Amino acid sequence: MMTESNKENREDLPIGVFDSGVGGLTVVKEIMNQMPNERIVYFGDTARVPYGSKSKDTIVRYSRQIVRFLLEQNVKAIAVACNTASAYAVPEIEAECPVPVIGVIRPGAKTAVEGTKNGRIGVIGTRATISSESYTDYIRQIMPEAKVYGQACPLFVSLVEEGLWEDPVTDEIARRYMASLIDRKIDTLIMGCTHYPLIRKTIGRAVGSDVLLVNPAYETARELRKMLETRSLITKRGYELGSPVPQYRFYVSDMAGQFQRFANSIIKYGILAAEKIDIYKYSAEPL
Ligand code: DGL
Repeated sequence: MMTESNKENREDLPIGVFDSGVGGLTVVKEIMNQMPNERIVYFGDTARVPYGSKSKDTIVRYSRQIVRFLLEQNVKAIAVACNTASAYAVPEIEAECPVPVIGVIRPGAKTAVEGTKNGRIGVIGTRATISSESYTDYIRQIMPEAKVYGQACPLFVSLVEEGLWEDPVTDEIARRYMASLIDRKIDTLIMGCTHYPLIRKTIGRAVGSDVLLVNPAYETARELRKMLETRSLITKRGYELGSPVPQYRFYVSDMAGQFQRFANSIIKYGILAAEKIDIYKYSAEPL
């Protein structure tokens, strides 16, 4: 028989978050800021990153394996932090998964529609995210007359991971990527990739200060909170920030040390350890 002390309430279970690698920590950071009492289990698919140059079929299969791993960790909800995985796999996972799922595309699209004045919205992301037209579809569902312009910015991910957040090279590449969007007279730009909020200043300089920058990581944490509230899944437990409670757990499919170093440059609490797991042992078939 379960006693009161070992019975875990559903709302006290962790939130599962996954990404193709380290970038999804920008979403983790927002969840930590907006819901400091929530526990998080993060998985970064560092063995198979990048997703941005892969096909839908592959991304869906990878995502199913990760969701299986997260369900094994007994998570109460899943946030797909990766824009590419959100674009391609969230519809499948949402339909198959026994716990609520949120991706980053819908919250980002919604905020862009709320923010635009001239109805001309730019989207930047990986090649896969841009060619999926997923942001465009969600924007048009809310604002059918919107003009949406996509621009793949594949070099940004490497520049961020190389630490060139404030660097003339990144400035120059950003100017080139933004040129066509400036010509289209966008007034709102969705930073549709996990890494881009880390070079927000560079992107802002390149596109001009009149353009509203939308950070889907921030918006997703907000929507996640609403989703958990609606379903009575917000924890009522309290934690001291920085306390030794194992509130956050990080898993990767490779290169745990490298992940940890990068993670500590994004997350202020300090990641004590990231554990490598074998993601290949989980089935990629529908859940
Ligand atoms: N996390 C991916 C995204 O947000 C970027 C890195 C990758 O290509 O896997 O789209």
